[in-house]
Amino acid sequence: MSQALKTSFFLHGGDYNPDQWLEYPEILEKDVELMRRAHVNCVSVGIFAWAALEPEEGKYDFAWLDRVIDRLWKAGIHVDLATPSGARPAWMAQKYPEVLRVREDFTRNHFGTRHNHCPSSPVYREKVRAIDSALAERYGHHPAVLLWHISNEFGGDCRCELCAKRFREFLREKYGSLAELNRSWWTAFWSMRYTDWEQIEPPSTRGQSASPAMWVDWRRFSTKQCRDFIRMEKEAVQKWNPELPVTTNLMHRFGDYDYFSLAEEIDVVSWDSYPAWGSGDDLQVACDHAMEHDLMRSLKRQPFLLMESTPSMVNWHTVNKPKRPGMHLLSSMLPVALGSDSVMYFQWRKGRGGAEMFHGAVVGHDGTGETRTFREVTQVGEALEKLTQLLHSERRAEVCVLYDWQNRWALDYAQMGRRGDQKYLETVNAHYRALWTQGIAVDFCDMREVTDLSSYRLVVAPMLFMLRGGIEEKLRAFAEGGGCLVATYLTGVIGENGLAWLGETPHALTDVLGVRVLEMDTLYDQDACSLVTRDGEERVGPVCEVIDAPDADVIGTYGPEQFYAGTPCLTRHAFGHGKAFYMAARMGQEGLDRFYRKLAEELRLKKALPGRLPEGVVAQERAGWVFLMNFSGAEQRCRLDGRWTDALSGETVSAEALLPVNGVMVLRK
Ligand code: GAL
Ligand code: ZN
Repeated sequence: MSQALKTSFFLHGGDYNPDQWLEYPEILEKDVELMRRAHVNCVSVGIFAWAALEPEEGKYDFAWLDRVIDRLWKAGIHVDLATPSGARPAWMAQKYPEVLRVREDFTRNHFGTRHNHCPSSPVYREKVRAIDSALAERYGHHPAVLLWHISNEFGGDCRCELCAKRFREFLREKYGSLAELNRSWWTAFWSMRYTDWEQIEPPSTRGQSASPAMWVDWRRFSTKQCRDFIRMEKEAVQKWNPELPVTTNLMHRFGDYDYFSLAEEIDVVSWDSYPAWGSGDDLQVACDHAMEHDLMRSLKRQPFLLMESTPSMVNWHTVNKPKRPGMHLLSSMLPVALGSDSVMYFQWRKGRGGAEMFHGAVVGHDGTGETRTFREVTQVGEALEKLTQLLHSERRAEVCVLYDWQNRWALDYAQMGRRGDQKYLETVNAHYRALWTQGIAVDFCDMREVTDLSSYRLVVAPMLFMLRGGIEEKLRAFAEGGGCLVATYLTGVIGENGLAWLGETPHALTDVLGVRVLEMDTLYDQDACSLVTRDGEERVGPVCEVIDAPDADVIGTYGPEQFYAGTPCLTRHAFGHGKAFYMAARMGQEGLDRFYRKLAEELRLKKALPGRLPEGVVAQERAGWVFLMNFSGAEQRCRLDGRWTDALSGETVSAEALLPVNGVMVLRK
């Protein structure tokens, strides 16, 4: 059963590592005082604390954690309690090397860093289960604890013998017989036919590396492994208190596992967002992370938690630039606008040593609350208290963008076009950007059976290379029933198990889209290709399909540069009660912006604010509250209809809102 987080406040706080400061009792005292000053109400404790919790095998030390949690709770601060499985103690790696991960070249890692475990190792599972269970028994009913933080940023995979064995079991279950596997993986190619399950090894740089279908199955398997591990941890902690929800922190643009699938295993979605503000175009930086916020909200169709963000700078970008004044509040309101019920940080206090000693923190090495960062963090804490009514509220979207991890893998592993550079995420983001900058709310869906498109008015399906889960039937029904569908080049090329569809493409959708693909062209950077529409001419590529569109209205044709000059490039087709657009070539941002502006007008899609905002200013709505955010790097004036109150400043705004650099308002009518 899924447990929701039932707080009456936005979580504000972050990763707290008292285990690094046990020899500094005065600092631990001071932390709580500073947290209260910063309006911190929740901290994530114990994420990498295994060595402090179990200094010797089987000997737990909870005394320090008792003191920390009690001290926090006395000050009214809640705890997001972590299981420590993200990093293991040295004694464990020394005694049981099997807990460590085996790499792609089949060599085993040594002790060090973190996120380095084998998910199959029975020893590791046993150790994790034991400590999780001990933690849950001790703290599962502590009034301070409101959430379990399972491990940390699960990622990667292991290729040890145990994992290989599980991979074979996974394949056996999936395909039933070797014959079926051979058929799906097309192993007649290069004489790769398997005659014994034992011949199958994980894909590797030293072995099988050239089977795209196998790679996609490996990623599915890795997802399953991770789900399995999470389930094991979840059961261990919820055994003591089934009411306490669990989360695990997810990552930006992460590709190892299918997050839609992973999210089924947890109660609350949370993730870590580290935009490179000030690196160039802040609007694009914002859009990149906004998409991810909307995606995280979409994973379970419920509010999510921003589990980590930096209060100032990170230490792992190539350039680690602190946030400029105002950016902290602005960048913290962005996730809240898009459905977050928290603003949490990495990290509360900078360590004295270690790899992250120079990573931004609420409290720096000076140890005071007298810094710009501390003041801006406090401001966010105060702001969140003014938005309490928004808590747990959903966002309603009329638009759905299909984004599917399995499709992403299929594109990544396909050896074609611009190999290794299919730009699926960038393409999804470009379509999203054209909608998001207009103030339109967007949901994401993948191709699972549960996906239901019927509540949407516009479905955008960029590069739907793999069709699975019966999505083609859903898209057909959607358009037939009056919806508007936008599809692009590289649609309907392969099926779920990687085999190409035989016959016309886009498979099963040629009549819906009114087009048929004749050829796919890929261009070099120096090659020119353009799209000509009534609005003018723009550059397209490097992927350009040559299509036949006998029944569709041709809105744009290819310019004169290539041999397919004058043939259809952008089409529109009436189907049933609805319509379907097809973009045969990759369009640039300006072209997409223009296309979706027109479409939004035609469909009268709901926007957070009517009219057009200055470039770089974005409005997004959550439950009737409009977040007006200035990412332009300059002061901006926005025209407004009616009288509004800015929930942050308490001031009334009418006719015009003046937004300073990095300014943000949360407007209510
Ligand atoms: C996250 C990680 C944290 C910390 C942070 C630094 O990815 O979960 O433990 O390393 O990055 O930005
Ligand atoms: Zn393994």
